[in-house]
Amino acid sequence: MSSSTIDFLERLQAAHGGSIPFDRWMQEALYHPQYGYYTANIRDIGRGGDFTTWPVMRRNLSRAIARWARSHQPRGKWHLIEIGAGTGALGADVWKALGWFGRPQLHIVDVSPVLRAAQKKVLPRGTRWHDSLADALAACNGEAVIYSNELVDAFPCRVFQKQDDRWRELSLSIGGSRWIEHWTESATLPDSTAITHPWPDGQRVETQEAFRQWYETWRPLWKAGAMLVIDYGEEVAELYHRRLRGSLRAYAHHQRLEGPQAYLGFGKRDLTVDVNFTDLRHWLRAPGPTQTLAQFLSAQGQPVELGDAGEAFKVLETSPHA
Ligand SMILES: C[S@@+](CC[C@H](N)C(=O)[O-])C[C@H]1O[C@@H](n2cnc3c(N)ncnc32)[C@H](O)[C@@H]1O
Repeated sequence: MSSSTIDFLERLQAAHGGSIPFDRWMQEALYHPQYGYYTANIRDIGRGGDFTTWPVMRRNLSRAIARWARSHQPRGKWHLIEIGAGTGALGADVWKALGWFGRPQLHIVDVSPVLRAAQKKVLPRGTRWHDSLADALAACNGEAVIYSNELVDAFPCRVFQKQDDRWRELSLSIGGSRWIEHWTESATLPDSTAITHPWPDGQRVETQEAFRQWYETWRPLWKAGAMLVIDYGEEVAELYHRRLRGSLRAYAHHQRLEGPQAYLGFGKRDLTVDVNFTDLRHWLRAPGPTQTLAQFLSAQGQPVELGDAGEAFKVLETSPHA
């Protein structure tokens, strides 16, 4: 780590009384304007990057999203928003799959200047980029069809461990070149099914209220349309099957790093958790059940050739009136 990164982290640690709550640490590691992975350090997605995503490999997803978007398209001029567009490959394929007739105005919301530059090379002329959903919705008069793929998994999480029927929460402090874990009983527990589920002793869980808070900031501005959320994860009962240490991990050069290894390389690695789709369903007030990606693809008339990903990836739909 550079000396200015260490200075920053030591100041943050002091401000938190000696150790940084994990969600704050993850927020800074991914989104700090100067030191964050998405905001400053990501170079690419795909073979040359740290990780790859399904749409980079499989085009049938873009055709399914286009067909779903068409089924929610209002009459006349319409707006399509992608949140977290990566290299732009998915958006570009969705655009092609929409066909020529009655195409929407395309909007992208993305936090990464590096990826925005990549997106500008492949997305159609006339695409509009926004810093926030509030800005994007303002440009659409609140009426938009919205989708995201592999966005929610990057929202900062709190990490808890169950011990003797009590929950302790993770915070980190710098100890030379590594990070030291601290587990303390926290005054407030999140409103999450990961906390209320009857886990065995020793289970670690992650909770992503940061996503819920973010969604609640812009939901009142969303007046009409539909939203599709695609990500990897499970309903709560299956979320940590045979995984006592939870699902938090980092990716660097396609290597998966777990446990204390995931904390190394602050701001230089992607950090992610499996999404708790039971929480997500409640938070989005989704009217229907969670679908597997395989179910979604076949409902949209697409061939399913995804192997395990067809089950590991899940799909939720909601609308502003749900
Ligand atoms: C894992 S990539 C997925 C990219 C693309 N959807 C795909 O499937 O290939 C995550 C994308 O979300 C963006 N991102 C991460 N957190 C975000 C946030 N809070 N708001 C908007 N964009 C975000 C990143 O910059 C990146 O473009």
